[in-house]
Amino acid sequence: MYSEKVMDHFNNPRNVGEIEQPSGVGTVGNAKCGDIMRIYLDIDENGVIQDAKFKTFGCGAAVATSSMATELVKGKTVQEALQVTNKAVMEALDGLPPVKVHCSLLAEEAIHAALWDYAEKNHIQIDGLEKPVADIEEKEGAEETTEGY
Ligand code: FES
Repeated sequence: MYSEKVMDHFNNPRNVGEIEQPSGVGTVGNAKCGDIMRIYLDIDENGVIQDAKFKTFGCGAAVATSSMATELVKGKTVQEALQVTNKAVMEALDGLPPVKVHCSLLAEEAIHAALWDYAEKNHIQIDGLEKPVADIEEKEGAEETTEGY
């Protein structure tokens, strides 16, 4: 039911851990399943992501997607990292079973939350980055509302 890549990233996750004094850190949860993901980013003065680490208290798919998401954003600029959507992460993992698609949303949102934190700390605005939610469930319900504030 899981692809080889998912199993590989689940059994041997990359980038597990924390970054001390990260440029940005983001935590997102899913109230429904109780899973939580935290992503740390180290971003240099040119806006390039030098390192990414994660901690995930969650299901196997959440571990695999955080592992792949952190791999994908490393070496990318902040703008490029915005293209690392849950779809891109799933493609890189050769797909996820439909019931596990929401787990990959955690990874996308946690990256956005870390980027948001970085932008706030540096008083900059990242084009195309929307204010992340703390609980992914809010997003599904709030899709059609106009403002996230
Ligand atoms: Fe909660 Fe996968 S079941 S993130």
